[in-house]
Amino acid sequence: MAQALSAVTVHPARRIRGRLQLPGDKSVAHRYALLAALADGRSRIDDYPASADCASTLDCLRGLGIQITLVPNVSGSSGGTLEIQGRGTRGLAAPDGDLDAGNSGTTMRLLSGILAAQPFTSRITGDASLRRRPMDRIIDPLQRMGARIEAASAGRPPLTVHGGDLLAIDYAPAVASAQVKSCVLLAGLLATGTTTVRECGSTRNHTELALRAFGAHVSTSGLVISIEGGQALEAAHLRVPGDISAGAFWAVAGSALEDSDVELIDVGLNPTRTAVFDVLVRAGARIERRVTSTTAGEPLGAVRIRSNSLKPIVVGPKDVPGLIDELPALAALGTMATEVSVTGATELRAKESDRISALARGLARLGADIDECPDGFRVAPTRRLTGGVVDAAGDHRLAMSFAIAALAATEPVTIEGATIAAVSYPGFFEALGSLCH
Ligand code: S3P
Repeated sequence: MAQALSAVTVHPARRIRGRLQLPGDKSVAHRYALLAALADGRSRIDDYPASADCASTLDCLRGLGIQITLVPNVSGSSGGTLEIQGRGTRGLAAPDGDLDAGNSGTTMRLLSGILAAQPFTSRITGDASLRRRPMDRIIDPLQRMGARIEAASAGRPPLTVHGGDLLAIDYAPAVASAQVKSCVLLAGLLATGTTTVRECGSTRNHTELALRAFGAHVSTSGLVISIEGGQALEAAHLRVPGDISAGAFWAVAGSALEDSDVELIDVGLNPTRTAVFDVLVRAGARIERRVTSTTAGEPLGAVRIRSNSLKPIVVGPKDVPGLIDELPALAALGTMATEVSVTGATELRAKESDRISALARGLARLGADIDECPDGFRVAPTRRLTGGVVDAAGDHRLAMSFAIAALAATEPVTIEGATIAAVSYPGFFEALGSLCH
């Protein structure tokens, strides 16, 4: 984030009510922008989000010689319409300086798969949080494909990518990660031969759907995905659905606070992303979903959330890949409405912060009954949060998790560095204000 971060104070609220349009889904948006750059012709992407992470992807693409125009929306979501002049799969230009992925792991990991096949050397870096995140998970498969990549130290960014000709691989990542899968599939698109990824757990399938939307053939059979190298991409006109991970915060607050009633419109309802709703509904939440259309294979619809009493929620290792980004929201729920226990989520320690300790530390600071364990946490609403001051730990989802938990506290909560929420949800605090009556 180029702007300095500021604190926000959240006041307790009895309920939340209203109708909201969410920012565009950042996972989907990154993929559309990257593939539009590799396509032949001019692509148009509606509702491209104004989030800092998505801006980082555009900055990197501009650094690679891609022409991009962004016309902000005048109403509705805070995003805009993006036009990208693609340069074909081999048309990127060597950058003059470092490519800066900012806070965005998706930008760094997916773009590395593309850079590995370009006929030039590039260096991709990021902010202090991103420079602490593990990249060996993508360096390993890309090296097996023939790429030469140097990490700063211990597999951490910046990454120097000496691009060149790649050979297809058959790869089984050790972690269930959509970013790793996508990095390998993008490199596979540019490699010689057919690349196969064998997932150890099901992850979001936006890359597969987006590749098809740009005219590529990708085959999927259960957890095995294959792509043939050398395919050209065609320009496309696409729309980014609303971000279900942003909606998860309203699903939690609306379920937990009595007399709440919230409607989310134009939400992405891709089944590889809706596990958070499934878990909440199993616990008794009143969440109704209605798919109204499908865009580029991505279902889109309305979601209504009303409060209800909830049973305890148990999230185990198998559930984790499907709701990895929603676990901070569920932690907030654990302070408000029902016990939440999570295991098998060591991956949370490798996110924008070590989300297990940062959540446990932050929520405990506000008075929560929370226990940290190596691979998860247990949090119970045995007492109301007392309020106070908490640090967002430079993590957008923690800022929003603390803000939602604050709604059920006895006193106001000041979240330091809260504006980091704009990494994925610009307008989050304005939306919060509009829902609290
Ligand atoms: C993402 C995949 C997930 C998720 C991240 C976005 C993506 O990461 O946590 O916010 O867009 O592919 P992993 O693939 O590392 O689990």
